[in-house]
Amino acid sequence: MKSEQRLSRDLVPSLADAMVHFLSVDDFTKEQMNSLFELADDLKSGKATTSLKHGASLALLFEKASTRTRVSFEVAMAQLGGSSIYIDTRTSQMSRGESLSDTAKVLSSYVDFIAARLYKHNDLIEIANNSSVPVINALTDLEHPCQALSDLYTVRSIKKKIKNTRIAFVGDIAANTANSLMLSGAKLGAEMVLIGPKGYLPNPKYLTKAREYSGVEVSTSLEDGLADVDVIYTDTFVSMGQEADAEKRKKMFLPYQVNQKALDYAKDDAVVMHCLPAHRGEEISAEVLDGPRSIVWEQAKNKMLLEKAIILRLSEESS
Ligand code: CP
Ligand code: NVA
Repeated sequence: MKSEQRLSRDLVPSLADAMVHFLSVDDFTKEQMNSLFELADDLKSGKATTSLKHGASLALLFEKASTRTRVSFEVAMAQLGGSSIYIDTRTSQMSRGESLSDTAKVLSSYVDFIAARLYKHNDLIEIANNSSVPVINALTDLEHPCQALSDLYTVRSIKKKIKNTRIAFVGDIAANTANSLMLSGAKLGAEMVLIGPKGYLPNPKYLTKAREYSGVEVSTSLEDGLADVDVIYTDTFVSMGQEADAEKRKKMFLPYQVNQKALDYAKDDAVVMHCLPAHRGEEISAEVLDGPRSIVWEQAKNKMLLEKAIILRLSEESS
């Protein structure tokens, strides 16, 4: 990962070389992602009994709400023999102006990993640049890399492969989840399709980067875009931090709701994914989310497995 922190470095060239972090899906090569999936398989089957060094700890530094990511990381650490500390930035000294760099220096002198959920991706890079332990992106406005790798692991489990699997991201195609899924999916050889409203485009940096690896199509038509698709993926129309534009966004994206009609455009065995939390009646209908083609609960469950694999790999790399 040290030599592969490409996109993060493109965004902010000063990212320190000295420490291994997981800030972007671009921090992992295709081989490293596949190796993570194999480790997750082994953890699931019980073949891998890897545990962390005695007393290992993780600080979860969160500016935004979370249910799944927080709980799965906490339980993952406990099951690996370590512990975790949840820090809501609103009740930390950050709320009274302590800098990100001072916070990172101090926290990393106590704990072995920091998982941060922040608004600005550059703040995450600032933390990484000042941390003496690995920093994990638990979601920023730009990326949700743990989610994407976990979701591709779920695709691999259900479809038995990722390469040449056709995955459509529908709705807010410029969301953090779209960026991470598009880039990691393309890197693993999936055919990515991004379907959203006319004039609303994916992040150009991520699109360009993803197209270096595999074909990525952008479409404004649900019918055309979903033809021959194996996986339909959606996320909220209003990500955390976008509440001021909520009504405008809901109206703009509503034609792209994943409902039964949309599902009918895809392959008969296409599955539906959503990172959750879901908003029934907005980005997805209740009928589809709770229906037989939805794999969202298995998808959510796999988060913990992949987070364990990520922690174990970062632990190896940094020791
Ligand atoms: N998918 C996801 O990250 O969920 P949380 O916001 O509940 O952590
Ligand atoms: N795109 C969503 C993902 C939530 C897990 C958000 O950032 O709010």
